[in-house]
Amino acid sequence: MQVAIIGGTGFYDPGSLDVVREHAVVTPYGRAHVLTGRVGGMEVGFLARHGSDHSIPPHRVNYRANVWALHHLGVRWVLATAATGSLNPEFKPGDLVLLDQFMDFTRGRPATFFDGGEAGVVHTDFTEPYCPALRAIVAEAARAEGIPLHPRATYVCTDGPRFETPSEIRAFRTLGGDLVGMTNVPEVVLAREAGLCYATVAIVTNWAAGISPSPLSHEEVLEVMAGRGAALRRLFDAALGRLPPATGCGCGAGAGRPGGRR
Ligand code: HPA
Repeated sequence: MQVAIIGGTGFYDPGSLDVVREHAVVTPYGRAHVLTGRVGGMEVGFLARHGSDHSIPPHRVNYRANVWALHHLGVRWVLATAATGSLNPEFKPGDLVLLDQFMDFTRGRPATFFDGGEAGVVHTDFTEPYCPALRAIVAEAARAEGIPLHPRATYVCTDGPRFETPSEIRAFRTLGGDLVGMTNVPEVVLAREAGLCYATVAIVTNWAAGISPSPLSHEEVLEVMAGRGAALRRLFDAALGRLPPATGCGCGAGAGRPGGRR
């Protein structure tokens, strides 16, 4: 299986995935649950980041187990979703956005496969954090399907589970952030360390704190996600149908073996 979808908040249903198997993959970091099935003729995996019942908060997601499991199953391309608040007036609730940069404001999350010791000391290049070839495929699929998609944005990752303060949001905006969420880091980092091609389509579910006219709530996030689920699934199906990319990328070059020495 070469392709997988990581579904974030509000995206628990693999949709057009014809599920045939559920795998509980035992990894050096704990268990990860991956569904596998077919989309069209292609074998595709689906991993619900927060669990199928949204029982795992963002700071407790076992990101290393999840990415290790996909790597172990032979996955090469990963399409992920991320619910986000917007700090940029150009990105409105309901919009779909293809991430191209991130800023990491998390603290103390296990964020690497290369923890010294057996795993070695590895410094991974993040000049282009998301796979350019996979991003191009998603952008092309959006054009072909007539689904509006912002082509780039900087994602700010916080630990959560609380939402941000208006002061934090002002600071993130001053720094150049466009969207804020709680999960894309370290997932994107681990994917690159494992040599996977990884892209994220963010869904703007709300204006960020202090920009929103009302207090933020998880219900509001779920409501907008429910409204955009069909478009997101259509976009992913169209992107899956365009794999593999015609152009190469450097995501696998210099990648390590998660959990072990290179
Ligand atoms: N902040 C952080 N994470 C989020 C938000 C937000 O406003 N909306 C959806 N996920």
